[in-house]
Amino acid sequence: MSALDYARCTRDLLTWYESHYRALPWRRSRDAYRIWISEIMLQQTRIEAVLPYYERFLHECPDVQSLASLPEERLLKLWEGLGYYSRARNLQKAARIIVADYDGVLPADYEKLLALPGIGEYTAGAIASIAYDISVAAVDGNVMRVLARLMCDDTDVLSSGAKRHFTALVARMLPDTHAGRFNQALMELGETVCIPSGNPNCAACPWCAYCKAKKNGRIDTLPVRAKKKPRRIENRTVAVVIIHGETPRVLLHKRAANGLLANLWELPNALQEDEPLPRSIATACNAPSKLPQAKHIFSHVEWHMQGRLYHMPSSALPSGYRAVSLTELQQDYALPSAFRAYAALLPSLLQKEDL
Ligand code: ADE
Repeated sequence: MSALDYARCTRDLLTWYESHYRALPWRRSRDAYRIWISEIMLQQTRIEAVLPYYERFLHECPDVQSLASLPEERLLKLWEGLGYYSRARNLQKAARIIVADYDGVLPADYEKLLALPGIGEYTAGAIASIAYDISVAAVDGNVMRVLARLMCDDTDVLSSGAKRHFTALVARMLPDTHAGRFNQALMELGETVCIPSGNPNCAACPWCAYCKAKKNGRIDTLPVRAKKKPRRIENRTVAVVIIHGETPRVLLHKRAANGLLANLWELPNALQEDEPLPRSIATACNAPSKLPQAKHIFSHVEWHMQGRLYHMPSSALPSGYRAVSLTELQQDYALPSAFRAYAALLPSLLQKEDL
């Protein structure tokens, strides 16, 4: 197969980007803080979903200092619905380090960025190149797909060596200046033209004339993704406990400090074979009635949930549990999206007149 002219690839991609880039809010400035926040939010989350969060977050936390000093509950509230809450916690940990060690300014150094919590090779590369014009690659799944097709490369993009392999390919194309523009152009190509499934728009691609997958009829079979382990399925019972009193409240439970949804407040729940409520609460409740079933998909596990509705009089609660009003829940708590189906029932369940 003929060798690719990398300089031509670079030139054609940059020219294409000049007239095809989307005016996304984090492209309005080269401020490293703003770029950092966008890159963290964009991990595992679609651009359209990120947009409203991005604006709201920057309004409340316009700089590293304000992020470092934000109360954790408020931080989680700002992140509510975006998922993967460890991203928010790591942002704050990193912000505190940046205040303590770097005078509140993200370091213009790939290795120092990489050492910060929550910043991996992709994010360090994106911040270093976009904010500071450092000539370093930023390779994510989109970029690997585009390159696998351009080169007709059968490397399994889910394998441990794939990132390093494709990073070496990008390095051959990276310009000495405007590396940030080049990296974003690659991302843009992967997000808008060389899309994962369905119909990549090859006619609109600046690399179409020399794309090796196109030439070999391999667009639909690249990139190679070896089968992932199937997600574990957990059948869970979710308890919606309404606590009666002057103001009706719902029972929340604080999750453990480690693992899935660490430290977040949730509706009490347990694997189907276990009781979702501690004995002292269960004995104070009436016999439960059935609520709908619901499903939530995490990266490695699926929750198949059966809801149960309980009522109990106001009484003392064991530690780790709290009774909160609807207003408190909405203003102060970041209930994970896994409970969305049951959270949607709460306004009517907590109406006084329904009791
Ligand atoms: N995906 C992740 N980072 C991005 C960026 N800076 N521009 C476009 N898409 C992205």
